[in-house]
Amino acid sequence: MRIVVGITGGIAAYKAVGVVRGLVLAGHDVHVVATEAALKFVGRPTLEAMSRNLVHTDLYDGVAEVRHVALGQSADLIIVAPATANTIAKIAAGTADDLLGTTILASTAPLVLAPAMHTEMWSNAATVANIATLRERGVHILGPASGQLTGADSGLGRMVEPDELVAAALAIVGPRDLAGLRFLVTAGGTREPLDPVRFIGNRSSGKQGVAIARAAAARGAEVLLVVANIEDADILNGIAAGGGIEVQEVSTTAELRDAVHAASPAADVVVMTAAVADYRPETVAEVKIKKEVAGDTLDLHLVRNPDILKELTGARPAGQTIIGFAAETEPDRDALLELGRAKAARKGVDLLVINRVGWSEGFGTERNAIIVVSGAGDIVAEAEGLKDAVAHCILDLVPDLRSSP
Ligand code: PMT
Repeated sequence: MRIVVGITGGIAAYKAVGVVRGLVLAGHDVHVVATEAALKFVGRPTLEAMSRNLVHTDLYDGVAEVRHVALGQSADLIIVAPATANTIAKIAAGTADDLLGTTILASTAPLVLAPAMHTEMWSNAATVANIATLRERGVHILGPASGQLTGADSGLGRMVEPDELVAAALAIVGPRDLAGLRFLVTAGGTREPLDPVRFIGNRSSGKQGVAIARAAAARGAEVLLVVANIEDADILNGIAAGGGIEVQEVSTTAELRDAVHAASPAADVVVMTAAVADYRPETVAEVKIKKEVAGDTLDLHLVRNPDILKELTGARPAGQTIIGFAAETEPDRDALLELGRAKAARKGVDLLVINRVGWSEGFGTERNAIIVVSGAGDIVAEAEGLKDAVAHCILDLVPDLRSSP
């Protein structure tokens, strides 16, 4: 996609570098239009290096190619980040006294603004009216967020974080091919308590499951996301604000099982990304286990947990699509595939997403590599990349799967 990023003169302009980078890494052709004021906060070389294109500022540059309107005419999406109170007022008034103004006026592409200013400016009647006008015209306003501002003050006015902005802006122009579907997605890893202070757990961060939930919501689905022990708050950042995703927190396998069974009858698609503990301690100590009492060795007696995924496929309502994951440490691709195929058959899923896990693979990482097999064991997709991109690759399979008899 060809995306114009307008950068205006506020301290949050430094965050625009992250926005440009995120869009480029997502494979888009990014053209920066910076106001003179923006370049007082962030340097042209930085923006050119990040966008891999020349930065445009002057209304009178590139006159022969009619650049003052060409950038807007050829854009598939325009994002203004940060959008200052002044720029918001100018866009609302339709002024065209600089390159960003002419670019926006000449464009029919979706327009996304990420406001950034002090709380008093955001709540000023003039800004409130301008935002209302822009919203009425179909402009997408993302943020502002609440938190520490540039001075000693804090409150509403922070520009939303770059990765959130990129994801939300791309979702606005993305396909809505999952609209009308209800998704149940699990993420994170269950924990089984040993005593009030210790547990047996795993290293799932929740990133892959949350990426699937975000991607499904971005494509129009209504999502219930059941999360087990996601410790990094950033992973769930902006979900409540983003819409389309309801979050339910659980910790143990029993809690996850209850939540999933309660929600699954109403779900059109279930995606079991959570790393579920296969075993739990047979008894949970009421008080902290003391080494003085246990001695030099401690035997734990573990019992099998129910296989939630298998229970789901065994009792699935008509028309429900069930996607499971397989986390395997097998290094050999053929052997890995065989393990996945056997698991797909055993669990009775429609799709099984096989990913290799290990000390530095799968769990907790930003990236993932997957092979997706059908219930019959055929390879239907392969992908390698950021967990967001991998999520979209899995979801790309859903519409066809649901339309085939
Ligand atoms: O959270 P991240 O850090 O981003 O890492 C992502 C991930 C590596 C955890 C994820 O991509 C993944 O592989 N999730 C599945 C982990 C897992 O439990 O795999 P498994 O092969 O042990 O289980 C197979 C399937 O059965 C899974 O869909 C699992 O949710 C389900 N299961 C497992 C055991 C059990 N008792 N009940 C289940 O429902």
